[in-house]
Amino acid sequence: MHTWGKMAASMLLISIIIMVSASDNNSCLMTQVEMQSQRIFLNEVNTSCPVLMGKNAVLCCPPIALKYLIIITWEIILRGQPSCKKGYRKETNETKETNCTDERITWVSRPDQNPALQIRPVAITHDGYYRCIIGTPDGNFHRGYHLQVLVTPEVTLFQSRNGAVVCKAVAGKPAAQISWIPEGDCVTEQEYWGNGTVTVKSTCHWEGHDVYTVTCHVSHLTGNKCLSTKLNSGLRTSGSPALSSLRIILYVKLSLFVVILVITGFVFFQRINDVRMKVEGAGNQLNI
Ligand SMILES: *[C@@H]1O[C@H](CO)[C@@H](O)[C@H](O)[C@H]1NC(C)=O
Ligand SMILES: *[C@@H]1O[C@H](CO)[C@@H](O)[C@H](O)[C@H]1NC(C)=O
Ligand SMILES: *[C@@H]1O[C@H](CO)[C@@H](O)[C@H](O)[C@H]1NC(C)=O
Ligand SMILES: *[C@@H]1O[C@H](CO)[C@@H](O)[C@H](O)[C@H]1NC(C)=O
Ligand SMILES: *[C@@H]1O[C@H](CO)[C@@H](O)[C@H](O)[C@H]1NC(C)=O
Repeated sequence: MHTWGKMAASMLLISIIIMVSASDNNSCLMTQVEMQSQRIFLNEVNTSCPVLMGKNAVLCCPPIALKYLIIITWEIILRGQPSCKKGYRKETNETKETNCTDERITWVSRPDQNPALQIRPVAITHDGYYRCIIGTPDGNFHRGYHLQVLVTPEVTLFQSRNGAVVCKAVAGKPAAQISWIPEGDCVTEQEYWGNGTVTVKSTCHWEGHDVYTVTCHVSHLTGNKCLSTKLNSGLRTSGSPALSSLRIILYVKLSLFVVILVITGFVFFQRINDVRMKVEGAGNQLNI
């Protein structure tokens, strides 16, 4: 049952991501998911809600018919800011705000027509908790959202001067994951920025292997990316010390062989000369 719950939760998460990132639509994107979540988690009030930075988001209140409505309150708790409250009282037809400074967070329309909240556009600072409370004669109904803002990392792949290949996923949120095909000798570092983004850098070597092309695979909640590069030949030569030392030994042996050949040739030539001189000397003597 536990596994089933987890599976359902992840499916729900995926469907929310798809729904939220699929459009810049003003309609109440969460409604359908909420219905689903009500069926799956009967007592669950909070929903995790990943949203892409730069998109628009609409957060819905519990589905209560507006005629039963007395009061609507939105509580917005963002990191490092005083909690903001937006309220609407039907009786007096009045809206009220306390501590709300972000102009990108507003009612979708007049609250007596639609109590949903919109964020246009979503910024990295909108990570936080959003809760709608609807007061009715039968009591209060709550709906909470843990909004997680996603930022697509910028992915680069390059070869450094010392022959290592570097794959970087810059300023993503949350941190991206980097893997390689084929697997290499890798060091992965993470750098955390003050705004909540993370840069992931993976530096790899493929020494002593016959590797011509490498692929960096970056997986992230906002989508996966693959980049490939050819290893240049300089890297392969310098990257295989065993091979190059073999080659040096070969060269030394070859030059030694040539030197011996020259010396032998020289000695041989000298001997022939000596013999010729002796023969000529004997001939001269005979002539006298
Ligand atoms: C907006 O939502 C409505 C209803 O949900 C849909 O019919 C319409 O195609 C959507 N528009 C865009 C641009 O996604
Ligand atoms: C919903 O989240 C808020 C804020 O984190 C928390 O105070 C509250 O207890 C949560 N409610 C449920 C039912 O999990
Ligand atoms: C408004 O912010 C102040 C602190 O800046 C806090 O004491 C107060 O409770 C906040 N009001 C509401 C309604 O959250
Ligand atoms: C509530 O106030 C708005 C303007 O703030 C007005 O347009 C609307 O007609 C009012 N609704 C009712 C039911 O009085
Ligand atoms: C976060 O901070 C890093 C480093 O200062 C910067 O490169 C990046 O653009 C910032 N991202 C956002 C979404 O502000």
